[in-house]
Amino acid sequence: MPHYDVIVLGGGAAGLMSALVAGRRGRRVLVLDSSNRVGKKILMSGGGRCNFTNLNVEPEHYLSANPHFCKSALSRYTQWDFIALVEKHGIAYHERKHGQLFCDHSAKDILGMLQSECDDVGVTIRTHWQPAGIAATDVAPARFAITDGTQSYTAASLIVATGGLSIPKMGASGYGYDLAREFGLNVLPTRAGLVPLVFDDPFSDACASLSGVSLDCRVSIDRDPGRAKAVHAAFTEALMFSHRGLTGPAVLQISNYWTEKQPVIVDLLPGEAVPEWLSAAKRNRPKTLLRSTLAEKLPRRLVLLLEQLFWARSRELPLAGISDSELDAIAQRLTHWSLTPSGTQGFATAEVTLGGVDTDEISSKTMEAKRVPGLYFVGEVVDVTGHLGGYNFQWAWASGFVAGSYA
Ligand code: FDA
Repeated sequence: MPHYDVIVLGGGAAGLMSALVAGRRGRRVLVLDSSNRVGKKILMSGGGRCNFTNLNVEPEHYLSANPHFCKSALSRYTQWDFIALVEKHGIAYHERKHGQLFCDHSAKDILGMLQSECDDVGVTIRTHWQPAGIAATDVAPARFAITDGTQSYTAASLIVATGGLSIPKMGASGYGYDLAREFGLNVLPTRAGLVPLVFDDPFSDACASLSGVSLDCRVSIDRDPGRAKAVHAAFTEALMFSHRGLTGPAVLQISNYWTEKQPVIVDLLPGEAVPEWLSAAKRNRPKTLLRSTLAEKLPRRLVLLLEQLFWARSRELPLAGISDSELDAIAQRLTHWSLTPSGTQGFATAEVTLGGVDTDEISSKTMEAKRVPGLYFVGEVVDVTGHLGGYNFQWAWASGFVAGSYA
């Protein structure tokens, strides 16, 4: 049975990084991937341009049952380390909003870079390799035996980098979670993250009628609806109406924090002193209709929906005919529009999976399972999920680097 120092299960972002780092240390490394090619999510990421990291990586941009867990890996391998690698390979890139870094040309550049680094240190990559069984073995130096039913290998270290459940069409599988459980490790419940929100009728119909309308909003969630009013999470970015509900960066970001039956609060005019603006409009242009005033700052099609929802009975009144208190109430609704999703679009379209292998089971310094020497978990399979904006890849690079340094 061929023996390797390190077998990496899953050749995505985290798996390839851990393979090349272990290879640089002179370890004999084999990457096994069930898909027909490695790095598929890298290729489809960032609209084909791969938002490979962010200039402002901080632990606050990550969700986990243990928010401190990600700190060690993120500080051992920073965004600057990855940027240096990208520059070493002469890959052109640019910064977009919020410190997000994208390739100028194609995500293929990032995958090509990882593959060439793997080649340089002699990493072997096998695709179309579906594991049929993995077992612990005590025939030193092997600790693990892995088979697809036909071909078997042994390894001293096994790095599990099989990703999460998002986009099953791209080869996503729950295998990493099953494997963790087989080795007696706890796995926290999983759910779709960075995912569009869907609604029941009639709001679902309204979204469909506004499909394509996009605007910058502040979208937030209260920590404990109905009681404490402290804002738990808030993002000011684009919100977009679609034929299935709400999407766009602000909505994807808030979806990571959303739990069933919780309302999301939309401020349609973030940063505007809306009550003051509306009363000034009433004073200065008393004969104008409210919809005409609002259409100065909001898409007209959206204003027509808001009119039905917020001031249907006064719709044909000039501003002078709307009482100050009603105008204030309308301003309040425009800035605190409470919408309760019926769900999310789920793993079919989610960019990431929340939850996963419990970080209590893993050393944050090495990514090795505390109770199973030689078994490592990296990337999305672990209960660490980033915000939108290159944070998830940075977690994949950092956790992969750490495991590759010890495996
Ligand atoms: P990843 O999913 O990349 O890799 C897992 C690998 O394991 C795959 O190659 C798979 O085939 C393989 N595998 C699965 N089951 C297996 C099994 N049983 N046996 C063997 N192999 C198996 N993030 C970001 O920071 N910037 C961005 O621009 C984007 N954009 C983006 C777009 C879209 C459409 C999606 C779906 C996701 C993103 N992301 C992103 C998120 C990012 O892609 C994700 O966080 C990383 O790819 C996670 O890296 P991993 O290596 O952990 O898993």
